[in-house]
Amino acid sequence: MLDLNSIRNDFPILNQGFIYLDSAASSLTPEQVIIKETEFYRFYRANIERGVHRWSQKASEEYEKAHELVSKFINASGSENIAMLRNTTEGINLVANSLDWKKEDKIVTTIIEHHSNFITWLRVCQKHGCKLNVVASTPEGIFDLNDFEKIIDDNTRLVAITGVSNVLGVITPLKDIIQIAHEHGTVVLVDGAQLVPHLKTDVKSLDVDYLSFSGHKMLGPTGSGGLYIADELLEQTEPLCIGGGTITNVNVDSYELATSPMKFEAGTPAIAQVIGLGEACNYLNKHGIDNVANWDHVLAKKLVEGLLEIDRVKVYGPLDPKQRVGLATFNIGDMNPHDVALTLDTEFNIGVRSGHHCALPLMKELFQLNEGNVRASTYLYNTKTEIDTLLMAVEKIANQ
Ligand SMILES: Cc1ncc(COP(=O)(O)O)c(C=O)c1O
Repeated sequence: MLDLNSIRNDFPILNQGFIYLDSAASSLTPEQVIIKETEFYRFYRANIERGVHRWSQKASEEYEKAHELVSKFINASGSENIAMLRNTTEGINLVANSLDWKKEDKIVTTIIEHHSNFITWLRVCQKHGCKLNVVASTPEGIFDLNDFEKIIDDNTRLVAITGVSNVLGVITPLKDIIQIAHEHGTVVLVDGAQLVPHLKTDVKSLDVDYLSFSGHKMLGPTGSGGLYIADELLEQTEPLCIGGGTITNVNVDSYELATSPMKFEAGTPAIAQVIGLGEACNYLNKHGIDNVANWDHVLAKKLVEGLLEIDRVKVYGPLDPKQRVGLATFNIGDMNPHDVALTLDTEFNIGVRSGHHCALPLMKELFQLNEGNVRASTYLYNTKTEIDTLLMAVEKIANQ
């Protein structure tokens, strides 16, 4: 069980009378993480890996410690399997730009993807002439595994799929899909932006090849994120950028790249942010990611059931809260979702997101929604009372 009182004390930003239900876009940051991040600026602000002096040594030590913490958080074997990057999008782009694509390659993705895990593959296909196959889902975001069985073949180079939809909240059957892909020697990239912050993610038991995730959605600072790369792919995955820090030797006519993770982290990294992300992992470990997931289900149940009871409200995504994280999207009749979100902010002090949530193919193909919908998303600091307040506000708006 989460200790909500103690958790909320760690987030003084919550004491402003504003209900924050937009954690799927970016989560809040606890004091512990802010303190850890600012310690770097206050006490040992120096570049890493390049200095023999004490501040550089301390900064390097803290950076490496954080790297290790992040790798343990997803049960990777070690830091060499994680490139610390800015966000999920950067990790996906790294993979898209680092494989030697051939015309006959096929890429499989799905209709429920965020643009970061969709247009990136469209671009690869446009550039290299390969083919993009898009697997359909039900309007709830539920897949028929037979569709993956049918579409993935020996020419499929990569399957790119989200772990959790940022619109429908639905949790995808990653293990099954990865198994199908591996039967054909196909590599799988998981978009973990909404997965890693909410559900225990074990890269070993998932047997995933690439996993990209964002630190700023899991209590960490903005500008922090990671890309997990499985052992077998470390060698063939090319870095996106090279330069300082990525080499072991340089001559006038040649260079030798360092091993991972150095080869992926060109130039001065986001040192303070990575150190902060390490502390965010400590924080989530302390409270237990399984407890976070259980609380998600409690809030999701309340949210979805409550919304369904309000006249004129349509809820998107699966109705069973066990199939989703703490996230629900909805519309009120034919009201513009931006108007609903603005009213929730100005009249009820509630922050939600509205629009297409960077998932236009999903909005258009599954719902023919041009303006998108309203999204309320929770995290470990949200309370049932906050959900009640949202429901009461939505009901008032619906009855206006
Ligand atoms: C499912 C999903 N994928 C990718 C992203 C992109 O994350 P970032 O902006 O941190 O790169 C998001 C952000 O909302 C997301 O929800």
